[in-house]
Amino acid sequence: MNNQLQNDLKAELEEMQGKNLLWNPRTLEGPSGARTMIEGREMVVLCSNNYLGLSNSRILKKAAIDAIKKYGAGSGSVRPIAGTMDLHIKLEETIAKFKGTEDAIYYNSGFTANSGAIPALVREGDIIISDELNHGSIIDGVRLTKGERTIYKHKDMGELEARLKEAKTKNPKRVLVITDGVFSMDGDIAPLDRIVELAEQYGACTYVDDAHGDGVLGENGRGITNHFKLEGRVDMDMGTFSKGFGTMGGYIAGTSTLKKYLLNKSRTWLLTGSHPPATVAASIASLELLDRSDKLVKKLWRNTKSFKKRLKELGFDTGASETPIIPIMTYDEEKAAQMSRRLFEEGVYALPIVFPMVAKGKARIRTMMSADHSREDLDFAIEKIEKIGKELSLVK
Ligand SMILES: Cc1ncc(COP(=O)(O)O)c(C=O)c1O
Repeated sequence: MNNQLQNDLKAELEEMQGKNLLWNPRTLEGPSGARTMIEGREMVVLCSNNYLGLSNSRILKKAAIDAIKKYGAGSGSVRPIAGTMDLHIKLEETIAKFKGTEDAIYYNSGFTANSGAIPALVREGDIIISDELNHGSIIDGVRLTKGERTIYKHKDMGELEARLKEAKTKNPKRVLVITDGVFSMDGDIAPLDRIVELAEQYGACTYVDDAHGDGVLGENGRGITNHFKLEGRVDMDMGTFSKGFGTMGGYIAGTSTLKKYLLNKSRTWLLTGSHPPATVAASIASLELLDRSDKLVKKLWRNTKSFKKRLKELGFDTGASETPIIPIMTYDEEKAAQMSRRLFEEGVYALPIVFPMVAKGKARIRTMMSADHSREDLDFAIEKIEKIGKELSLVK
């Protein structure tokens, strides 16, 4: 490697290390689930987005194995050339049915859905209005556009309306309001009903990222649009399979014209190999399973309610959480890091979230519930959280 480059990279890494900003991911030695092996020890996992435990479902695994036997291990091409199998089409039809839209387009990930669809939809002279706490993949998608960007204060509908009014005076061709459905750091829900009303009032379009609402909100986990009964009124209903649905891949559900447009215009769809059959088949099985039964979604919410209640009774501050994403606020950055370290020693895997992922002084341990957690798992986690919370004087 070029010496100068090597030295520059080392210097930057050391600077990040000094600020405690380096990632050092732990390695799972088994499947993602409520419990897994890390460093040879069994841990209760509180930091996975596997909300329904579907990533290790017998039904999904069988669908993946059957697809490998029939279609092979890879897809062989990008989607527009020879990488579209009947399985990919079936998945898109299944997504549309599950989300209550005319059609859907499947991307390789939620990240590439946002970073490909947003620049395809927003042209020079258009305006984007985005919540300040939107996910990084939306921010990157917005950065790739030639449109004008404005940000409104988190969930502040007064400010959103002011931005919509301002946009109107500029006479743009298109205005796009973009929001996360569930915000990933705090677990609070966007007021999508109000956002859609305002957008309709000012002739703007709406784009919601339902990554953390998929499998969580609405009937049978159909997501935020179903939760607010807004079917047919959200223009771009985007989501991911990598969390509640247990597999991998992103999608945008909407009209068939939208699909046709995006598959001709999004570079992250056109220029990358398509998902292997196993993932696609498991994704279909995941939606079909949820369509048949809401058992897992109900279990997820029972776990969420009881865990949050117990944390609150112990005196912990769970911030703005309204979903299975439950922060334990420490505010202090060092306390968050210490709490995560101590929890790990005691057999609980939960990560600290600190600046720059959240604002300075808003540090927390972010816990996430799963339908896979048993009563014993959560009793164990609560016992350890209480013990360490007392050690760190977070509770009495
Ligand atoms: C709100 C949000 N949008 C998009 C993504 C990206 O999804 P994927 O994991 O499918 O790339 C994530 C994942 O971290 C997310 O939290």
